[in-house]
Amino acid sequence: MSDDADPVAVSPWRATVLTLYPEMFPGPLGLSLSGDALARGAWSLETRNIRAHGLGRHRNVDDTPAGGGAGMVLRCDVLGAAIDAAAPASDPRPRLLMSPRGKPLTQERVRALSEGPGAVIVCGRFEGVDERVIEGRGLEEVSIGDYVLSGGEIAALVLIDACVRLLPGVMGKHESGVEESFEGGLLEYPHYTRPREWEGRAIPDVLMGGNHAAIARWRAERSRALTRTRRPDLLGDDER
Ligand code: ADE
Repeated sequence: MSDDADPVAVSPWRATVLTLYPEMFPGPLGLSLSGDALARGAWSLETRNIRAHGLGRHRNVDDTPAGGGAGMVLRCDVLGAAIDAAAPASDPRPRLLMSPRGKPLTQERVRALSEGPGAVIVCGRFEGVDERVIEGRGLEEVSIGDYVLSGGEIAALVLIDACVRLLPGVMGKHESGVEESFEGGLLEYPHYTRPREWEGRAIPDVLMGGNHAAIARWRAERSRALTRTRRPDLLGDDER
């Protein structure tokens, strides 16, 4: 097979993760859908230990915050050197910093990332990262939700998982992703399978009737109703 017949062989989606805890990777990404795809070369994962660029005998990576306050701040010189070693300025991949302060991750952003060459992902620890390296290395801060994790590693795993499952050939045909939550701007409709009745709860009749137009209408209606009660923020003013 020629190289250009197989886009995966030419340029697999590439994640480089900068972390103080490289042992956390691939973690769950080494299993199931993402793990199979990793083994098959549909994507690649490289971890870089920020501490390799630490200072002195103890390889220090953090220091006390200027202006005082609790906690420690990841040094800009250390993280800057780690980023430069992992991804030269010519690297076309976006540089992300996982942080609760970031712009919330959306399915739209995930899809755009999965369609690109990959990502360089910096995992923050401590109270934060010196602002100058965020500016100087053009880091885009990304949050996975309005809660605080003890570091960016689990957030990075979430982001990579969401991207990898969208890569060509990773998801099965039956899970092609077009009908799932958020893809149409709505939450997904409820699912059922056998048995037809369980603990007095029956599968809705419409799903058993074989009328595909009626089923599609029912699903669209359930999607809209669920979204209206649980996530009205996803709807336009006229739909709420
Ligand atoms: N690091 C700590 N909390 C985080 C969050 N909510 N999203 C992304 N990175 C984080």
